[in-house]
Amino acid sequence: MGILRSIFIWSSENDRLTDLLPRYPFIRKAVLRFIPGEDLESALSAAEIIYSHGIHTVLTYLGENVTQQVEADQNSRHYHDVLKRVSERGLTCHISVKLTQLGLNLDTDLWLSNLRSLVEHTSKLGNFIWIDMESSDYVDSTLEIFHRLRSEFSNIGICLQSYLYRTFEDLERLLPLSPAIRLVKGAYAEPRDIAYKKKKVVDENFLKHAIYLLREAQRTGIWPAFATHDPKLIRQIQGEAAGMGIPKKALEFQMLYGIRRDDQIRLVRDGYRLRILISYGSAWFPWYMRRLAERPANLFFVLKNFFI
Ligand code: FDA
Repeated sequence: MGILRSIFIWSSENDRLTDLLPRYPFIRKAVLRFIPGEDLESALSAAEIIYSHGIHTVLTYLGENVTQQVEADQNSRHYHDVLKRVSERGLTCHISVKLTQLGLNLDTDLWLSNLRSLVEHTSKLGNFIWIDMESSDYVDSTLEIFHRLRSEFSNIGICLQSYLYRTFEDLERLLPLSPAIRLVKGAYAEPRDIAYKKKKVVDENFLKHAIYLLREAQRTGIWPAFATHDPKLIRQIQGEAAGMGIPKKALEFQMLYGIRRDDQIRLVRDGYRLRILISYGSAWFPWYMRRLAERPANLFFVLKNFFI
């Protein structure tokens, strides 16, 4: 891992920096490249604009690792409000949640009923909820909860990370549920004994998983979504899908708000399905540090905002 990448990942987990750095206006300004704003209204307006280009969206309210049940309850209530407002405005936005934002890391099971009620509400409104995958400490519990909920509800999908050695086995265990799976490379600092470190290997593994998912999508009812901005991988996945006779409209890519916008427009123009994940909220610091870690060149925009 490059030294800058390690510094950003370390910063994303540092409480003091999380408290201090967001107070600086030049950092607040720099983050606006990746989030439309801190409030829900900004996210909904962005979703409306993006939809006018034929692109669907997923909304995620930033925050993770809550320390008290009251915060978890607030986050859960916030998502209920999101679902209501999305439905009232006739938008097609899914939602995506981190389980530690709803209380997975707390010592009680109270949060589970919050999650269930959120999935129920999503289902009643005919919407869809994605479960993010967080650091490896939470992978077992996240998958276990997903298995439980997916056997009751069809409107729920899960994220898998190609940098983990275990992902192929997780994927095989999920297949009988015919789930929606968002495949990503993985954004956390993981030890060498559980995760691939070299970008080339993570990329190769992403492609292997993608090909497997494409074959299964043809054979069964699973719904794969390839969440990457990597142009080479996207071309390879498109080539593999075409070779299997999968129509472009059946191939879903997902990207983050503000990243490689030209490619986003091009994908839709070429006839592929695209969903943009829009993050918003005031707890953006750890998430933003992971975006900097993915591409340390983004530091340039932070510095630019400092000097102008
Ligand atoms: P890669 O890092 O190889 O970048 C390819 C190119 O994309 C770069 O050359 C650059 O042009 C552009 N790019 C990528 N990241 C950029 C950035 N931050 N700023 C500017 N340009 C950038 N992870 C996770 O662990 N759990 C999760 O639940 C999710 N969920 C998720 C949802 C969606 C919709 C997406 C797109 C991504 C995630 N991720 C995630 C993050 C994912 O694991 C990964 O860290 C990022 O997508 C970056 O990897 P790429 O595959 O895009 O390629």
